[in-house]
Amino acid sequence: MEGLAIWVLLSSSFSILLVSYGGDTLTPYQNLTDGKTLVSSDGTFELGFFTPGDSKNRFLGIWYKKITSLTVVWVAHRDVPLANTSGVLKLTQQGILTLQNDTNGFIWSSNSSRSIANPVAQLLNTGNFVIGGANDSNAENYLWQSFDYPTDTLLPGMKHGINFVTGIDRQVSPWKTTSDPSRGDTIFRMDPRGFPQQLLLTNSIELFRSGPWNGLRFSGSPGLKPNPLYTYEFVFNKEEVYYMFELINSSVYSRLTLNTNGVLQRLTWNYRTQEWVVYLNVPADNCDHYLLCHAYGSCIIGNSPVCGCLDKFVPKSQKDWDRADWSSGCVRKTPLDCQKGDGFLKYTGVKLPDTRNSWFNWSMTLDECHKVCLNNCTCMAYANLDIRARGSGCLLWFGNLVDIRQLLENGQDIYIRMASSELSPSFPVFLSSASWTSFRLKMGQPVVMYYILNHYVVQYYKRSTVYAQQNCFPSKLIIHSSIHCTRQGMLEDGQEVAVKRLSMYSSQGVDEFKNEVICIAKLQHRNLVRLLGCCIEGEEKMLIYEYMPNNSLDTFIFDQTRNSLLDWPTRFRIINGIARGLLYLHQDSRLRIIHRDLKAANVLLDIDMNPKISDFGMARSFGGNETQANTQRVVGTYGYMSPEYAVDGHFSVKSDVFSFGVLVLEIVSDKRNRGFFHQDHHHNLLGHAWILFNKGRSLELIDARMGDSCYLSEVLRSIHVALLCVQQSPEDRPSMSSVVLMLGGEGTLPQPKEPGFFTKRNLFFEADTSSSNNAAMSVNDISITQLDAR
Ligand SMILES: *[C@@H]1O[C@H](CO)[C@@H](O)[C@H](O)[C@H]1NC(C)=O
Ligand SMILES: *[C@@H]1O[C@H](CO)[C@@H](O)[C@H](O)[C@H]1NC(C)=O
Ligand SMILES: *[C@@H]1O[C@H](CO)[C@@H](O)[C@H](O)[C@H]1NC(C)=O
Ligand SMILES: *[C@@H]1O[C@H](CO)[C@@H](O)[C@H](O)[C@H]1NC(C)=O
Ligand SMILES: *[C@@H]1O[C@H](CO)[C@@H](O)[C@H](O)[C@H]1NC(C)=O
Ligand SMILES: *[C@@H]1O[C@H](CO)[C@@H](O)[C@H](O)[C@H]1NC(C)=O
Ligand SMILES: *[C@@H]1O[C@H](CO)[C@@H](O)[C@H](O)[C@H]1NC(C)=O
Ligand SMILES: *[C@@H]1O[C@H](CO)[C@@H](O)[C@H](O)[C@H]1NC(C)=O
Ligand SMILES: *[C@@H]1O[C@H](CO)[C@@H](O)[C@H](O)[C@H]1NC(C)=O
Ligand SMILES: *[C@@H]1O[C@H](CO)[C@@H](O)[C@H](O)[C@H]1NC(C)=O
Repeated sequence: MEGLAIWVLLSSSFSILLVSYGGDTLTPYQNLTDGKTLVSSDGTFELGFFTPGDSKNRFLGIWYKKITSLTVVWVAHRDVPLANTSGVLKLTQQGILTLQNDTNGFIWSSNSSRSIANPVAQLLNTGNFVIGGANDSNAENYLWQSFDYPTDTLLPGMKHGINFVTGIDRQVSPWKTTSDPSRGDTIFRMDPRGFPQQLLLTNSIELFRSGPWNGLRFSGSPGLKPNPLYTYEFVFNKEEVYYMFELINSSVYSRLTLNTNGVLQRLTWNYRTQEWVVYLNVPADNCDHYLLCHAYGSCIIGNSPVCGCLDKFVPKSQKDWDRADWSSGCVRKTPLDCQKGDGFLKYTGVKLPDTRNSWFNWSMTLDECHKVCLNNCTCMAYANLDIRARGSGCLLWFGNLVDIRQLLENGQDIYIRMASSELSPSFPVFLSSASWTSFRLKMGQPVVMYYILNHYVVQYYKRSTVYAQQNCFPSKLIIHSSIHCTRQGMLEDGQEVAVKRLSMYSSQGVDEFKNEVICIAKLQHRNLVRLLGCCIEGEEKMLIYEYMPNNSLDTFIFDQTRNSLLDWPTRFRIINGIARGLLYLHQDSRLRIIHRDLKAANVLLDIDMNPKISDFGMARSFGGNETQANTQRVVGTYGYMSPEYAVDGHFSVKSDVFSFGVLVLEIVSDKRNRGFFHQDHHHNLLGHAWILFNKGRSLELIDARMGDSCYLSEVLRSIHVALLCVQQSPEDRPSMSSVVLMLGGEGTLPQPKEPGFFTKRNLFFEADTSSSNNAAMSVNDISITQLDAR
C-alpha cells in the first residue's frame, strides 16, 4: 500500500490571526487569550485559537507553525465551538486547563484525577501539549497530555491504542467538514478483542481491519516495512497495546490523518512544492474493504470478480455468487467431522482473518499450536503469532474465518481445519491417522503426496505437484536399479523439496515401509535432513526431503575451484555438525540408527552451509532382513567402510565412527580417501595421514590456501580425532559422544593406533573385483546396495 499512490493533496485554506505569546508554557497566573499563542521551543508547533475554513467559530488547537497553509493536528473542544474571540485558556492551581468565554461560560477543560503543586502546561516540540510539575519532565508524571486525546491526526510519538490501566483509548476520528472540526462518523481505533487489530469503522460498521501484528507489521499492511522516513513499533502487554511511529529525521513532517472522507492517509510535507503529499491510503484497494468476500472467501485484487472461495471451499449460494453477491460466503466442500478426525491445510500468502474471536499464546510453538487446535473441534485455524525467525507463538481462530485476502507480497501462512477426506481424497486412512495415495511419475503430473509434519505422525497432507525433473545426480545412481535418483521438486505452496526415488529392490511391504518412514520422520535434529513424507505406488517408493540449496559436501571439497569457498571455520563447523548429527542417530534418537553409508555425498548443506546428514536410517530400514550385528548385504561405499563391516558384514555404531573419521580427513585435505595417490607410497588417504601424523607433519595434509595459523590447533585436533576414529579395531574407536567432546577441545586425546584399511593393497574389494564383481565398483562414491559378503 505504501508508495502505491502518490498524489498531491490540495490544502484547505484557513484563516488565522497570529500574535505569538512567546513562550511554550502556561502557568496558573497567566491567561491565554485569543490572538496569543504558545510556540514549541524549536518552533515546530504552535497552540492558540483559529477559525477553520469558512466557519465563523473559533477553536483552540495546535498546528504546524512553519507551514503556511494552516494544518491543524489537534483541537481541544471540537464539539463545542466558541462563537467569537472571547475564549480564555487558563491553568488552575491544581493543574487543570480550562477554557472559558467572556461570560465565564465553560467551553472545555482537561481532565485529571490527580493534582500537583506548581503545575505548568507546556507545548513540546513533538506537538504534545502536556501538564506536568514545573521542574518535572518525566512523561510518566504528566497530569494530562493532548497525545492521549487525538483528534484526526496521529503524530510521531503518539500511541494509537489503549492503556488498560488508565482506560485511555486513543481513537482518531475525522473532522465533519474542512470547516467543522466536530467529530465525524468514522473512527480509527485499536480493537483489543481477541488479538488486537486496528479497525476503521463508520457508525460501528467495519470498513477496514489492519489484521493482527505479526512481529514485522500488521498482517493486512504488507507495505509497512523499514523505510527512510519513519520507524514503527507495536507494543502489546498487560498494561497497554499501541502502534506508534517515529520520524527518522524530525525536520521532515509526516503524519497519519483520517480525512473527512473516512480515508486514513499518511501525509508528508514537501518543502519544495509546499504541499502535503499522500504516501499511503487506507483502505488501499477494493480488497481492503472489510468482509467483502465474507466467510472463507478470499479477495484477490486483479481478479474479476475479486472474490473467490478459498481452495476446498465452494460458494454457499452459487446463485448469489453468480450475481456478484458474496454475502452468503463460502462453505467447505466436505463438512468437518471432528470425531472422525480432521486435519489442517496450509494456505499461504494471505492476510490473516479477523482475530476478534481468537486466542493466542506467545510461547507456544507451531506444533503445540497445531495440537491444541486439533483437539478443540471449534478451533478453525491456527498460525504463528510472530513470523520473525522461523516463527513462534500461537494464534487460534474460533468460528468462521472472515476477511481474508490474498496479498501480493508479505502474505502469511495459515492452517485451516479440513475434513480428513479432503486431505487425502481417494484412499482410506491407514494406521489410524495416515493415508496414502498414488502418484504418477510423469513430469508435471499432479501427485497426491503424503506429508508428515514435524513430530506428529501424519496430521497433514498436501496435494502437491512434483515438477519436472531438474537435477538427477548420476552419483546417486545405484547398482542394480538405475532409477535411484534425486530430483528437485516443489510443493504447491512453493516449498522446495528433494524427491528421492527408491529402487525396487526392497521386498519390504508397504506397511513396513510406511512405519519406517513415520519413525524416521519423527527424528529431528538440525544436522539431519528432514524427511517430509513419501509416496508409494505398488513397488514404487519415493521419499520427500527438505531441499538443500547448497547441494552436498562432495561438490565443494572435491572440486578444485569450489573448495576455496570453504574456509576453515566453515569446515570445522561442518565437522562438528556431522558429529552431532551422528551422535543423535546413535544415541539420542529413540531409534538408535546406524547410518552405514556416511560419506561426503550424503552430507547436504543448507543455505547457511550447515551440514545435514541425509539418507540416515534408509540403509538400516530398507535394507532387508538383518540382525543388529550382521547383515547378508553390505550397504555402504568403498573408501568409507570399516574393515569389519566390509569384510565380515559386521556393523555397529563403530563402523559409522570409522566412516566419520574418513570424512573428517577428506574435509581437512580436500582429497578422497579412495583414489588417493601419493608418489612416495601406496597408501590411501588414511595411510598418508597416519604417516604424516607419526612424523609430526600433519599440517601437510591441509591445503596451503587454508593454512591460517590461528586455526592450526583446531586443524591438528581434527586430524588427531579422525585418526582415532579410523583405528583398525572397533573397540579402540571412540564413541560419537567422545568425538563431540574431543572436537570441542575437552578431554585428552589418546594416541591413535594404526588405521584400518590404510594401504590400498589390503583392501578386500580390490581382490574381490578381479574375481566376481562388476566394473561399477571402481567408480568412486557409488553406494553399494547389494554385495554378498563372502
Ligand atoms: C486572567 O483572566 C481573568 C479573567 O478571565 C482575569 O481576572 C485575570 O486578571 C487575568 N489574569 C491575567 C494575568 O491576565
Ligand atoms: C462575544 O459575544 C458576546 C455576545 O454575543 C459579546 O458580548 C462579546 O463582547 C463578544 N466578545 C468579543 C471578544 O467579541
Ligand atoms: C459562553 O459559554 C456558555 C456556555 O457554553 C454559553 O451558554 C454562552 O452563550 C457563551 N457566551 C458567549 C458570549 O459566547
Ligand atoms: C474525565 O474523566 C472522567 C473519569 O475518568 C470521565 O468520566 C469523563 O468523561 C472525563 N471528561 C472528559 C472531558 O474527558
Ligand atoms: C524549578 O527550578 C527553578 C530553577 O531551577 C527554581 O527556581 C524553582 O523554584 C523550581 N520550582 C520547583 C517547584 O521546584
Ligand atoms: C533532515 O531533513 C531536512 C529537511 O529536509 C534536511 O535539510 C536535513 O539535511 C535532514 N537531516 C538529515 C540528517 O538527513
Ligand atoms: C502458553 O503456552 C505455554 C507453553 O505451552 C504454557 O506454559 C503457558 O501456560 C501458556 N499460557 C497460557 C496463558 O495459556
Ligand atoms: C475450545 O475452545 C473454546 C474457545 O477457547 C473453549 O471455550 C472451549 O472450552 C474449548 N473446548 C475444549 C474441549 O477445550
Ligand atoms: C549457499 O546457497 C545460498 C542460496 O542458494 C547461496 O546464496 C550461497 O552463496 C551458497 N553458499 C555457497 C558457499 O555456495
Ligand atoms: C528375518 O530373519 C529372521 C531370523 O533370521 C526370520 O525369523 C524372519 O522371518 C526374517 N524376516 C524376513 C522378512 O525375511
